[in-house]
Amino acid sequence: MRIHILTLFPNMFTAPFGESIVRRAIDRGLVQIAFYNIRDYATDRHHVVDDSPYGGGPGMVLKPEPLFKAVEAVLSERGEFGLPVLLLTPQGRLFNQQAAQELAGYREMVLICGHYEGVDERVRERLVTDEISIGDYILSGGELAAMVVVDAVVRQLPGVLGSEASVCEDSHVGGLLEYPQYTRPQSFRGWEVPEVLLSGNHAAIARWRREQSLRRTIRRRPDLLERAALSDEERRLVAQMEREED
Ligand code: 6GU
Repeated sequence: MRIHILTLFPNMFTAPFGESIVRRAIDRGLVQIAFYNIRDYATDRHHVVDDSPYGGGPGMVLKPEPLFKAVEAVLSERGEFGLPVLLLTPQGRLFNQQAAQELAGYREMVLICGHYEGVDERVRERLVTDEISIGDYILSGGELAAMVVVDAVVRQLPGVLGSEASVCEDSHVGGLLEYPQYTRPQSFRGWEVPEVLLSGNHAAIARWRREQSLRRTIRRRPDLLERAALSDEERRLVAQMEREED
């Protein structure tokens, strides 16, 4: 996968992409990430990238020319004009695990990190193919959101995680929260690991984990249950647990 990131602050990405999973994916050649400083595409002498809004109001708006120039430079360098161009903005569609899986299906994409009060609307209308938000709160810029999106997408790519299995068992895959995890020691300060996990009975362990996932989701994120993929038996179990919770 190839990801092109357009930003006013490329240095912000150094640490998050220089460690751990994303770093390893880059080192193994599973993903290539290229940065483009939007300011380099401003053609005036002072490399101005923002201006005040027409009609008045607070803050600054990202000018269209540098963003169009930067995206067009990427597209012609790649000889590929149908690439997805995603704008990171609090006005975008909400990013979730399903969106991460969807983006993981692209071979190549362009991410634009929005800033200030916003971007000129013509960028949205004529340049961008999709807009993404990572949650209902305001960040100072799209960079942190781009890091979140890249991390969530890259860990989906085949070969990035040690075991393919761990992607499927993560929280939110299948629409439920993850079950509780334990590791050694078996007794820590007198607090014991649940018996069933020591039993070696794989069917019983799987059943316990599924039940814990359901219970945790009911308690913490009941909104997720409506869309979760549950069997008829699990639906009955949920109904019973919900009665117990009341
Ligand atoms: Cl993508 N950008 C900004 N600036 N704030 C956000 C966001 C994005 N997603 C949630 N808040």
